[in-house]
Amino acid sequence: MKIKIISAIAAIIIMASLQTMAQKTLREATKGKFLFGVAVNMQQVNGINPAESELIAREFSAIVPENVMKPQPIQPEENKFFWDNADKFVALGEKNKQVVTGHCLIWHSQIGRWMFVDAAGKEVSPEVLKERMRQHIAAVVGRYKGRVKGWDVVNEAFEDNGKYRNSKFYQILGKDFIKYAFQFAHEADPDAELYYNDYNVENPAKCDAIVEMVKELRNAGCRIDAVGSQGHMHMKSPTLEATETSLKKLKAAGVKILITEWDISILPSPFDGAEISKNFSYSKEMDPYRDAIPDSVQQKWNKHMLDMFGLFLKYHDVVDRVTLWGLNDAVSWLNNFPIRGRKDYPVLFDRNNQRKSVVEEMIKMAEKTKSKK
Ligand code: G3I
Repeated sequence: MKIKIISAIAAIIIMASLQTMAQKTLREATKGKFLFGVAVNMQQVNGINPAESELIAREFSAIVPENVMKPQPIQPEENKFFWDNADKFVALGEKNKQVVTGHCLIWHSQIGRWMFVDAAGKEVSPEVLKERMRQHIAAVVGRYKGRVKGWDVVNEAFEDNGKYRNSKFYQILGKDFIKYAFQFAHEADPDAELYYNDYNVENPAKCDAIVEMVKELRNAGCRIDAVGSQGHMHMKSPTLEATETSLKKLKAAGVKILITEWDISILPSPFDGAEISKNFSYSKEMDPYRDAIPDSVQQKWNKHMLDMFGLFLKYHDVVDRVTLWGLNDAVSWLNNFPIRGRKDYPVLFDRNNQRKSVVEEMIKMAEKTKSKK
């Protein structure tokens, strides 16, 4: 009789702790280690799907705009601004008591072509481009002064080999366009944190070039608080070792680290990276999991996700934020990049907004990790 009572009590305790664990969120578990964020798209900014709105509010302590604050949606033509979605994005973060990051001020992609040409369609002078950059940055950063914790000031200025990307900004202003962007952002909101953001930062040549740039910016008196390592990953690359090496290099450079656009594609990739200009045609063999993922493949993905998460926790003294690039598998950009119309499974919540099994393991791992001092 006694044994029956003891085992009943034990069962109740186990159920209760499982229940609590099930209620524990990533937002709560990562508290004191780093912010745990998500990129939100225009539909989510507008609250179209209540289930997604609830998930965003519950599981995340930070949000980043996937697209609504980029140069082109904000200022598609000179002096024509569209603030509606960006205003809603900032308000959403404030309503959810989440940290708000602005993405992104200067990028060679998703920017109005007008920025680089005069009325006659000729390339503008360095002075004109510099002034247009200043006006754009002053308008955007100034509008949200005091409400946005930090900005992705410049996005993807380097090639994987460490050379400067030959963007219009670089062609007209040279590498100083980066310095100007950071100066203008700081002028517009002196208290905002300022970040440089890029993909494939795990690539040694690119990481070294970024570290050098950080030194140059600081020697020029610029504020730069963190480097955003986007973290667009595949099952084979970057390796844990390459990722840890880049974290060590950035830590040694004295900057904070943000994992800004984390996802792990489970699909075969024609190449590594997030160079948006590259694309490849669809084929069945490149889209192998349309109906479901074999358990063995899912387990491999879970392990890789957990190993990477463990690495970020190991460096949480310098990693300030880990952000998923997409709320659930259905809205991920990877369903259409680098090949349109595929079915990928790159983030932590499935197409029904349900947690993948690895989330519980991540919560346990985070709970076991000592908080920052
Ligand atoms: O909003 C317009 C819509 O009005 C129009 O009808 C439609 C058809 O062309 O396009 C819509 O804009 C699309 C936008 O996403 C919003 O859905 C753009 O065409 C499309 O190019 C854009 O893709 C985004 C891409 O950046 C380029 O800006 C992806 O969603 C976004 O996930 C991706 O994110 C980038 C980061 O900002 C920087 N790091 C790399 C990362 C992946 O490329």
